[in-house]
Amino acid sequence: MKVLVAGGAGYIGSHVVLDLVKEGHEPVILDNLSKGHQEAVLHGTFVQGDIGRVDLVKEVLTKEKIEAIIHLAADSLVGESVANPAKYFRNNIGNGQSLLDAAVACGVKYFVFSSTAAVYGEPEKVPIPEEHPKNPTNPYGFSKLTFEGMLRFYEEAYGLRFISLRYFNAAGADPEGKIGEDHRPETHLIPIVLQTALGQRDHLQLFGTDYPTPDGTCVRDYIHVVDLSQAHLLALNALAAGKASSIYNLGNGQGYSNQEVIETARRVTGEEIKVTAGPRRPGDPAVLVASAEKIRAELGWHPRYPALEEIIETAWWWHQHHPNGY
Ligand code: UFG
Repeated sequence: MKVLVAGGAGYIGSHVVLDLVKEGHEPVILDNLSKGHQEAVLHGTFVQGDIGRVDLVKEVLTKEKIEAIIHLAADSLVGESVANPAKYFRNNIGNGQSLLDAAVACGVKYFVFSSTAAVYGEPEKVPIPEEHPKNPTNPYGFSKLTFEGMLRFYEEAYGLRFISLRYFNAAGADPEGKIGEDHRPETHLIPIVLQTALGQRDHLQLFGTDYPTPDGTCVRDYIHVVDLSQAHLLALNALAAGKASSIYNLGNGQGYSNQEVIETARRVTGEEIKVTAGPRRPGDPAVLVASAEKIRAELGWHPRYPALEEIIETAWWWHQHHPNGY
């Protein structure tokens, strides 16, 4: 299938592009390179541009005869969204709508959307099932929840079928070592821990040690980027096979505290990894752990790398071999 991967030069998008090609699809990558890296795009046709440019997007969709869009082009930092909600609403909602409008105008049939665990806010119970109340505690989660709602109404009115994937914490890197995580600036826990192990940082700061969790640090559900990527392929195939639009969580159903992540990284790297305690980061829920039973049951999703140790090992290989990123 001809698939437009919006945000395909980013961390998750570039892994999706690899898997699309492995399974015989033809990806066209649209990325404005505001955060992505052209070097991360190993296959497909690359177009540099913004999803908000309706004319450009329409031209690409028509010329390339695109049947499906996988939309990963968004701002995705909880802390930044709290400080600058306008940026998140403009890009994730406004520009996202431009992409949707172009999709409808050009007769795209299927839409796979990268959503987030941040739509839930503070969970009332864990693991979190998809029907859990949605009360985002930050503008990022709100922007993704809004877009999910737009997809429902666009399907009703225009027939665009969709699957939204609510990612928990993506981590790890391509096990063959070709691509990996390179955010600038880096804000995510695992790469920061590994940069500290490499000696690129003297220490890392733990954002909050007084959460109502066993060791006082936040708990997250880490999912290997390759397992996440596979879910996009399953979603695409399900839509093409006539499956109804739906929303799925993607996580391993196992929570690790920030402290446990650091201890695992110490074992994997054999390095000391110095840590200091700092204040909480605004917008962070204490615990986010997924129930991914629905996607296992309905789409047959089976994670290949569910163990945190393995997730960190693949990330460590990438960071050791690409200490300065791409
Ligand atoms: N953390 C630190 N120190 C750091 C960096 C992070 O203590 O230097 C903590 C955070 O406060 C949080 C945990 O590590 O408690 C994980 O933080 P990340 O920034 O790695 O990931 P988030 O959980 O904030 O966010 C990720 C994605 C979001 C998504 C969210 C859903 O980046 O897009 O998961 O769980 F919304």
